[in-house]
Amino acid sequence: MNALVYHGPGMRAWEEVPDPVIVEPTDAIVRIDMATICGTDLHILKGDVPETTPGTILGHEAVGTVVEIGSAVTTIEPGDQVLVSCITACGRCRFCKEGHYGLCSGGGGWIFGHTIDGLQAEFARVPFADTSVYKIPEGLTPEDVIFLADILPTAYEVGVLNGGVQPGDTVAVVGAGPIGLATIMTAKLYTPGRVIAIDLADARLAKAAEFGADVTINNGVEDAVARVMELTGGLGADVAIEAVGVPETFELCTSLIRPGGRVANVGVHGHSATLHLEKLWIQDVTITTGLVDTITTPQLMKLIEARRLDPTPFATHHFALGQTEEAYDVFAAAAETHALKVVLTAEPVPLLPEGEHERAVNPEAAAV
Ligand SMILES: NC(=O)c1ccc[n+]([C@@H]2O[C@H](COP(=O)([O-])OP(=O)(O)OC[C@H]3O[C@@H](n4cnc5c(N)ncnc54)[C@H](O)[C@@H]3O)[C@@H](O)[C@H]2O)c1
Ligand SMILES: [Zn+2]
Ligand SMILES: [Zn+2]
Repeated sequence: MNALVYHGPGMRAWEEVPDPVIVEPTDAIVRIDMATICGTDLHILKGDVPETTPGTILGHEAVGTVVEIGSAVTTIEPGDQVLVSCITACGRCRFCKEGHYGLCSGGGGWIFGHTIDGLQAEFARVPFADTSVYKIPEGLTPEDVIFLADILPTAYEVGVLNGGVQPGDTVAVVGAGPIGLATIMTAKLYTPGRVIAIDLADARLAKAAEFGADVTINNGVEDAVARVMELTGGLGADVAIEAVGVPETFELCTSLIRPGGRVANVGVHGHSATLHLEKLWIQDVTITTGLVDTITTPQLMKLIEARRLDPTPFATHHFALGQTEEAYDVFAAAAETHALKVVLTAEPVPLLPEGEHERAVNPEAAAV
């Protein structure tokens, strides 16, 4: 099969690799129907994620069709179309039993395209298949649900739910990339009084307004703290959600909230940030952090099925799976291309009788 292989900092290629095979009885093999690229994949390519070793297939967000199951898999069968999410759950460890799949200590957690081969490929081995994939309800297309693989549950769980967004709240979202926009979209489920989007890029702020922000602030041009104070009678926002991942924006979030307010950090940080406890200790603030657990995936899936949530506007660019390298170029140049999420689609391949399935991909067709 073909897959997008990481070859060390700055190097990657769509190339031929061995087909994945069942290793554990709890594994399934899926044929990837649709995949997408995450900002984290770009971090890996920069060399910022040393545990991802050269030779690893990248990608942790996909929709696929089951082609083979291990002997212990009982809830899915060949032919089922499933969401393969960024988080895998062993289902048995202490953290999985508490619903903290992101912390799974039994071999799951964020493993795809990180510590094992990922999903930007024609086929993938999916560990702990019974407890990790989600069947796609009838009537929904892969594109309806693909963003449930990462950005939607991340924004909802680590941003909106950790931030305790309540009806009527003023919610400040710092960073209007895919994660910040998904935060705005899912915060709306709680009928906030006002959503304020803050970013340095006007194009991203225009998107934020499309996704439902009531106020947009370019903090490269305006003093965001002064503006938020003015909008909230000098008190500050009820909740500030950090969706960038740099020290300045974390510190900005702690300055934006009212006494008793909440900061939910979603950004992945590579550097230490200053926590101004000398100001915050008396303010009764709550600060949360976290990796997504994806425990809300079924709930978000129901909202999509009921047409209460439509994540399809995140898909700004479409490519064939065989054009993954071009898709990376477009995604990495988001400032110029205005890409939010790039969608990679495989050519439909008919399912063959058991035993003949995995070899059925025609790479030429996939590259069209
Ligand atoms: N916690 C988790 O489980 C989890 C999961 C996925 C992604 N993330 C993280 O969420 C963060 C956002 O992801 P994304 O894909 O939307 O990233 P992105 O890079 O596409 O978007 C970041 C946005 O922040 C803006 N920005 C940059 N510096 C800024 C500043 N000083 N002030 C205001 N805005 C600024 C940029 O213009 C951009 O629009 C990243 O750190 C990513 O790694 C976390
Ligand atoms: Zn991701
Ligand atoms: Zn576990």
